[in-house]
Amino acid sequence: MLNQKIAIVTGSNRGLGYAISHKLAQIENVRVVMTSRKETEGITAQQTLANQGLEVDFHPLDVTNNASIQQFTSWLQETYGRADILINNAGINPTGDPSEESVLTVQPQKILSTLETNVVAVAQICQALIPLMKAQNYGRIVNVSTEMASFHSIATDFYPLAPSYRLSKIALNGLTVLLAKELYDTNILVNAYSPGWLKTDMGSDNAPFTAEEGAETAIYLATLPEGGPQGKFFAEFRKFGGPIQLNW
Ligand SMILES: NC(=O)c1ccc[n+]([C@@H]2O[C@H](COP(=O)([O-])OP(=O)(O)OC[C@H]3O[C@@H](n4cnc5c(N)ncnc54)[C@H](OP(=O)(O)O)[C@@H]3O)[C@@H](O)[C@H]2O)c1
Repeated sequence: MLNQKIAIVTGSNRGLGYAISHKLAQIENVRVVMTSRKETEGITAQQTLANQGLEVDFHPLDVTNNASIQQFTSWLQETYGRADILINNAGINPTGDPSEESVLTVQPQKILSTLETNVVAVAQICQALIPLMKAQNYGRIVNVSTEMASFHSIATDFYPLAPSYRLSKIALNGLTVLLAKELYDTNILVNAYSPGWLKTDMGSDNAPFTAEEGAETAIYLATLPEGGPQGKFFAEFRKFGGPIQLNW
């Protein structure tokens, strides 16, 4: 227990969060804390992995609910007294709603609610858990972003316009850089990555790749050695066969 690293994954009841939890739990000395806002679904997901002999726990966490974040942090502190790895995976994507087809029709409320889940919640969770990381001078934070948020290619790429989603992930990328700037002299490494287009509820069955494939870069960033990359943006492994950085 003393040597165990505690890894927290948000939104781990399904999709990419579940796949990341599965892969992290297979690493020696990593104990995964799966979290979700839907308790029953979260417990079912946790039990599926526990039945495979993996070391996984579950605790409810609604990332947009400040009381839920505080309760979760208190529980984590009392139970383990530490937080080593944080995967900010939970996210929403209103693309598909006709109003999301143009910046001229997008609903301000939709922009705000997407920012709330995809960015503001990540900032709040980092505020809650980074003090625990600082106490151990160890932390690996992985923000799940998307290539659709790359300023380098946003003007010419072929992805849907998706204004609410893109704006939220652009802001998440910015948050990643700001956190890295503040943490530059610590052993707490924060990076973002694009998992690629995945067969999940969000990605649909038309996506070319599985959630397990999309989880690979998260595992790489969650297990970086001391002195590893800080404040960078990575692509999915599958595309390049290894850790390749994207332009912001
Ligand atoms: N799928 C893709 O092709 C793709 C591509 C690029 C990036 N991503 C990113 O990858 C991440 C995971 O996406 P996915 O494909 O696995 O999507 P998904 O299947 O729709 O899963 C999203 C997860 O986020 C959770 N979530 C949403 N709001 C939450 C909240 N307030 N509190 C706690 N959990 C919340 C959902 O929980 P509920 O079950 O309670 O809704 C669910 O577990 C997202 O950040 C997404 O933007 C996905």
